[in-house]
Amino acid sequence: MPGSKEDCEDWGQAAQSYDAEYRSMVGEAFENEIRTWLARQVMDADKVLELGCGTGIFSAMIAERVKHLTATDSSPEMLEQATQRLGGYPNAEIRKEDAYHTSFADGSFSAVLTVNLLHHVDAPGTILQECRRVLTPGGKLVVIECAGHGTSLWSWIKTGLGYLRRWGRVSENHHHLSSDDLTTLVTDAGLAVQETKLLGQHRPRMGFICLRAMNAA
Ligand SMILES: C[S@@+](CC[C@H](N)C(=O)[O-])C[C@H]1O[C@@H](n2cnc3c(N)ncnc32)[C@H](O)[C@@H]1O
Repeated sequence: MPGSKEDCEDWGQAAQSYDAEYRSMVGEAFENEIRTWLARQVMDADKVLELGCGTGIFSAMIAERVKHLTATDSSPEMLEQATQRLGGYPNAEIRKEDAYHTSFADGSFSAVLTVNLLHHVDAPGTILQECRRVLTPGGKLVVIECAGHGTSLWSWIKTGLGYLRRWGRVSENHHHLSSDDLTTLVTDAGLAVQETKLLGQHRPRMGFICLRAMNAA
């Protein structure tokens, strides 16, 4: 169910250990590669919304490059971590929002970012339609998603064990999207895909799909 209480509780439990788990999965060199790609997608004048910001790792990568940043998530515990991380940026605002139905007016942002949100939700297409609604005409959507490619069997087992340890079950809402899946979802939401890039495809662990699309409407 969209943004359900159970989902929030799950993510709330993950908030304290999220950064350490992310770092062990991604590593510094790969994180720098992602940061470089992401930084190229935004401009000084951009008013950016991140949906599902978690602890704010990706919002922090762009906060000082943009005019204004609104980092949002449905989990209060994740937002506590994001508030600590983004506290030093006067242009950053942290808010609780459900990515399916945000409180923002149409055309409020010149850029919307989602990172590793879409493969965790039941209806990614609905969230992408919400992204389009809050984008200005000509605004850009930036999506980064874990990819199945380049992932060793051992890495999958470790990820599954991590879920079991944390939540007592393997995640039900965890369907990795391929680059083609993502392109179709974004196109179906009425956005024009401009770039897709696979980062880290030769790593022994998970790579990332990076996509930029424009609200051509
Ligand atoms: C895998 S984490 C990704 C966090 C962050 N984007 C990152 O990559 O480090 C997924 C995040 O999406 C949030 N989330 C899940 N469903 C959501 C919804 N319906 N609305 C807003 N946030 C949601 C969770 O609370 C969690 O923080």
